[in-house]
Amino acid sequence: MQDYKELLSEILIDEDTLQKRVAELGAEISADYQGNENLLLICILRGGVPFMVDLSRHITVPHMMDFMAVSSYGAGKRESDGNVRVTFDLQTNIKDKDVLLVEDIVDSGNTIASVLGMLETRQPASLKVCALLDKAERREAVVPIHYRGFTIPNKFVFGYGLDLDEYYRNLRFVGVVDLEKYNPD
Ligand code: IMP
Ligand code: MG
Repeated sequence: MQDYKELLSEILIDEDTLQKRVAELGAEISADYQGNENLLLICILRGGVPFMVDLSRHITVPHMMDFMAVSSYGAGKRESDGNVRVTFDLQTNIKDKDVLLVEDIVDSGNTIASVLGMLETRQPASLKVCALLDKAERREAVVPIHYRGFTIPNKFVFGYGLDLDEYYRNLRFVGVVDLEKYNPD
């Protein structure tokens, strides 16, 4: 994998801005779920990991965490269609839980739409979505985003959970990839 510095066309959201917004979202969620004893954060692997970890540390309401992974089939590497398959399921029974789904980015919306439909059948008490990034221009499916970090333009981004072919999820900022300089082999 090339050094990210060669591929970075701009830092879209720097570390300070990210951390401030994550703290604000945590405060908002804490206020909304005040007194609640059934809050369950569900992280969609793998992109949601850094965001969920940081977010949960700003949520003052006692809560649980679980993880799931999905993959979309029938679509290209950087696209998803409506068909999502669960590759790693929750370990928790979400019936009667107040579920907050935590995602790195909502792009077409197909992934979230499909996951929401599936989780709905398990009868949670409530089901909401928290997405760090919203690439609103690309939306195909109608999905609710109850907590949104940032609306971003239609550019391929990486860092803070988002990958460039599985690399660089660890970066503390969200950057834009210069696709002309990226030479995947
Ligand atoms: P959707 O189903 O089209 O909304 O796609 C959602 C998934 O696509 C996200 O969870 C990401 O894993 C991936 N994705 C979409 N846009 C980007 C991007 O700009 N960088 C990295 N991953 C992305
Ligand atoms: Mg991904």
